[in-house]
Amino acid sequence: MAFTSLELEPRIGSELKISKESLLSGAHALDIRALLVQRGVLVMRDLYLTDDEQRHFARTMGDLRLGGIKKEGEEGLMKVTFDKKENPEYAKFFFGSQLWHMDGTYEEVPPFATMLTPRVLANTGGDTEFVNNYATYEDLPQEEKFRLDTLKVVHTMQAALFPAKPDCSPEEFALWCTYPARAHPLVWHHKSGRKSLVLSTSASHVAGMHPAESRDLLTRLMWHATQPRYVYRHKWRMGDLLMWDNTGTMHRVLPFDEESGRKLHRFTLNGEEPVSAAA
Ligand SMILES: [Fe+2]
Repeated sequence: MAFTSLELEPRIGSELKISKESLLSGAHALDIRALLVQRGVLVMRDLYLTDDEQRHFARTMGDLRLGGIKKEGEEGLMKVTFDKKENPEYAKFFFGSQLWHMDGTYEEVPPFATMLTPRVLANTGGDTEFVNNYATYEDLPQEEKFRLDTLKVVHTMQAALFPAKPDCSPEEFALWCTYPARAHPLVWHHKSGRKSLVLSTSASHVAGMHPAESRDLLTRLMWHATQPRYVYRHKWRMGDLLMWDNTGTMHRVLPFDEESGRKLHRFTLNGEEPVSAAA
């Protein structure tokens, strides 16, 4: 076996032990993908990948996101930092990443997976947490699964960002409202046959439901999903490579000193299937 793995938490996360050579060869990409989807998050320590190596690895795992409207920066590289000089296009939205979310809920086909390597660590804070939304679905009572199966949720940029910045200016709020809303089934029936909850702070409301009932349901599900037994908390170390399956997880960054210049380099893989309801 070219790699071994160790569970980080019972319900989410595995650490993969693999040499850089084996990782970059692509020979084990299918096995790594299978483990990623099973465990939600994969962590590799002490790899110290360059940008080119990280990009190369990403290409072995799927369809690298390069450009178009959702431009990800140079050859797929996005610099995740609050420093607007480093990332003028996106830094103004990253504050929303401190709340639990899936990436790309505004897209018909959300991204499949994302890979991060740290380049500058925060002095304090800045851990990233992940939730396994396959596990959170599996643990629901059967009658609730039947009910949730019928529901669609509308995701909006203002729902994602306003709770993270309630003192925003009217102009900022108006800008967020210009982004298109997107409705997704609340339960994703993946092609694999597995099911997961599609939860995110971007969830504005359940389509067709009374607003009070909708708010209660989404709040209760978010509370359920973020219980410690579903969460993996990653403490960053230089040399890390971390990858998550965006289609079956949520993530958030914990508060950190923004003056520290915390920076991660990110590559994202395009999604491979739309969020599908029961057939
Ligand atoms: Fe994110």
